[in-house]
Amino acid sequence: MDRQTDTGASNLLYRHPELYEVAYDGAGHAVARLAETILHDQLGHQPASLLDLGCGTGRDLEYLATLIPDVVGVDHQRAMLDYARHRRPRIDFRLGDMRTLRLERTFEAITTFGYALADIHANRDIDRVMATCAAHSRPGTVLIVEVIDPLRTGELPRTLTIDIPDLRADAITEYRHHHAQQLLEQHRTWRRAQGLVHDLAHLRLLHPKELEYYLDNHGFDVLCAYQLPEKHTAASAFVAARHRGDG
Ligand SMILES: C[S@@+](CC[C@H](N)C(=O)[O-])C[C@H]1O[C@@H](n2cnc3c(N)ncnc32)[C@H](O)[C@@H]1O
Repeated sequence: MDRQTDTGASNLLYRHPELYEVAYDGAGHAVARLAETILHDQLGHQPASLLDLGCGTGRDLEYLATLIPDVVGVDHQRAMLDYARHRRPRIDFRLGDMRTLRLERTFEAITTFGYALADIHANRDIDRVMATCAAHSRPGTVLIVEVIDPLRTGELPRTLTIDIPDLRADAITEYRHHHAQQLLEQHRTWRRAQGLVHDLAHLRLLHPKELEYYLDNHGFDVLCAYQLPEKHTAASAFVAARHRGDG
């Protein structure tokens, strides 16, 4: 894997995908349901095909695959992909890097949820992700990007709990801004009976006009931004854009 971030091996939830879904409760599929609404608003129907970049455990695709016949999930972490394939065997999951992926086909919809784009730090790499989105788009393709709203980082979750038969763990998360780099440092301490675990991640913040610029450079017109007032997603903006067929 071409290293771009520090979130991989150092992150407890990435090392143990089975815990990811317990910590970030996906019950009710709130994000996927919002995507369903956005796609219906913007396309007038549910798309026939969808590509999810940085799909993680595939929890959103589980719901979207009940509506969309042709879904593909891509992630660059083998542990996440192995878990996704085991848990959701009917979904097409591919190991790949969203900066370089080329499946040589297009989709009617492309999504990236759970701040997967925030793992991409360098401007040049954000450009490469947008080029990937353009390469998998046709005129009219709708792209949905879940980003951290830089003005609402105070709403990011401070506490997480895992409470399953084998493990009881609580996490406290602290955030620190590195303004010059537009990075948010996320320091998480897990308390378990066996001792403490420390996670460190850096999340790239994108301001709305900046995101619009990257998208426009690759042929996408921003349509609107949606929000979901849920506990774990109160800091999220879901930006929808449509591909013009150029770029
Ligand atoms: C916070 S998780 C979100 C997972 C999933 N979208 C969700 O909401 O549950 C971010 C995911 O993005 C993936 N990711 C980060 N950088 C990536 C890259 N360059 N290419 C593919 N996947 C990437 C990570 O491996 C991780 O699974």
